[in-house]
Amino acid sequence: MSGARPPGDGTFLTFEGIEGSGKSTQIRLLARRLEAAGIAALVTREPGGTALGERLRAALLEPGAAAPSPLVELLLYTADRAQHLAEVVEPALAAGRVVLCDRYLDATLAYQGAARGLGLEAVERLHRDPPLDRRPLRTVLLDADPREGLARARERNRRLGTERSEGRFEEEGLAFHESVRRAYLALAAADPKRFRVVDGSGTEEDIEARVRLALADLFPFLAVPRP
Ligand code: TYD
Repeated sequence: MSGARPPGDGTFLTFEGIEGSGKSTQIRLLARRLEAAGIAALVTREPGGTALGERLRAALLEPGAAAPSPLVELLLYTADRAQHLAEVVEPALAAGRVVLCDRYLDATLAYQGAARGLGLEAVERLHRDPPLDRRPLRTVLLDADPREGLARARERNRRLGTERSEGRFEEEGLAFHESVRRAYLALAAADPKRFRVVDGSGTEEDIEARVRLALADLFPFLAVPRP
């Protein structure tokens, strides 16, 4: 399709939201749309995305493993990110690719900085120098009610049989997830140029239409045709 070139070097798009907000599904749908327009986007995630990152992910999220202290949690997520940036994200951006990342720095700000109480400054301090100073061009925040999100996440885990391996944060109470949501919304309000807050309620199709609209200035072919 003509006019389907990525908007330029450094097309780094991140997706954020509480558990069960539907990020992964929406990233998959978006990647498919981009691909249909001739853009092979790289889909990746944090924690994870590298061999070391997947081991850090298991250490961080396995409910059976001893829970790390909040500071250790912050350092492990940050270590995962440094490896991910150097090994996956920066080479892809340098090659002119579009990178779609499921969670990034804003997750650390919301979960470790705000909900775990370490403070945003403690997180930001670790992200001032390369490779950790990379910031996304656009961040889609899928905003969902924690009650609905958690119910969806638990249902998905049951279906996939991953309850035991991905559950650490899903075991946290509602107040924790409400605090994560508030932190995300505050981050979005403070940086409206980068963030697009998308209502995460309704069907997958409803949400997809909103995500397309939120990115249509970067990729005009995503504009949802009017009925
Ligand atoms: P994810 O796989 O996106 O979980 P889900 O699909 O259930 O939303 O993320 C795994 C967990 O890691 C999630 O509970 C949030 C947490 N997390 C942090 O606490 N800090 C971080 O910096 C990142 C990247 C994730």
